[in-house]
Amino acid sequence: MQHERVLPFFAKYIESELGIVYAEHNYFQLQNRLEEIAKLLSVESLEKLFKLAETGITGQFKQLLLDLATNNETSFFRDMKVFKAIENLVLPEFQKNHPAGTEMKIWSGASSTGQEALSLSMMLTEWNLKAAKPIRYSILGTDISERILLRAKSAEYSQLEVQRGLPTPYLLKYFQKNDQDRWTAQKSITSPIEFRKQNLLSPFEFSGKFHLILLRNVLIYQPLANKVEILKRVTEKLAPSGVLILGSGESLLGLSSDYTQSAFEGAVIYQRKGAQQTAA
Ligand SMILES: C[S@@+](CC[C@H](N)C(=O)[O-])C[C@H]1O[C@@H](n2cnc3c(N)ncnc32)[C@H](O)[C@@H]1O
Repeated sequence: MQHERVLPFFAKYIESELGIVYAEHNYFQLQNRLEEIAKLLSVESLEKLFKLAETGITGQFKQLLLDLATNNETSFFRDMKVFKAIENLVLPEFQKNHPAGTEMKIWSGASSTGQEALSLSMMLTEWNLKAAKPIRYSILGTDISERILLRAKSAEYSQLEVQRGLPTPYLLKYFQKNDQDRWTAQKSITSPIEFRKQNLLSPFEFSGKFHLILLRNVLIYQPLANKVEILKRVTEKLAPSGVLILGSGESLLGLSSDYTQSAFEGAVIYQRKGAQQTAA
């Protein structure tokens, strides 16, 4: 019964809600995850979970399904080349092209537990300490998973998490250790960040345009048509000449012609074509 009806049913549901496709050879993963959900909901078996789903997937059941289907892998300063490129290319360009005092708006799409947004905040703080003219900035972090967003908002990390990518001087400067050996980021780096729930496949529920968008390691899980659709709407959220950065294994090749591509020491930067270039 499980392989004939239950697993394809949930695979189809996850694909329609998240765009994430479970290939049949990965059904064992789906089964493991569904068994975890059944346990959390105190449902005895996958068949009973299936029966419950047939009456409607809502509330906690829906959130658990969406949470467990996503891969939340992230770390501080993940792919350091990218942060070097932002520091050496994107920030000076922004400063050159905007009047002093302009707020740099950054969006960390698929922000997971918040390390990407916090890394950007630390990087900008350090930049501002050295710069003749500081850059005001705000960072929006969005993700589909409520569980993950709660963690991002807490800004609290385990010893293991802070050991992944975070330079020790930054750990000591920007985090405080609590009694349970967990590290909490200081207000100075969390206050410019807002975390919100947003499914990339749904209409965006925030206004304004961004100067820099990081959309890393999330498109990789989407089928081609969804990638194109998400990128089209993300591009609309980017200011002319704004910058988009994807994950190191991702590219815009065949997905969008709205960008010019440049590289900085191995990191790929996509710059939105200005109004005139786009119209040409
Ligand atoms: C692998 S993590 C990447 C985190 C971070 N961007 C990085 O590169 O380290 C992917 C994140 O995308 C989120 N995600 C997956 N599908 C999504 C969707 N349709 N809309 C919004 N977020 C999604 C997951 O919840 C997860 O936190």
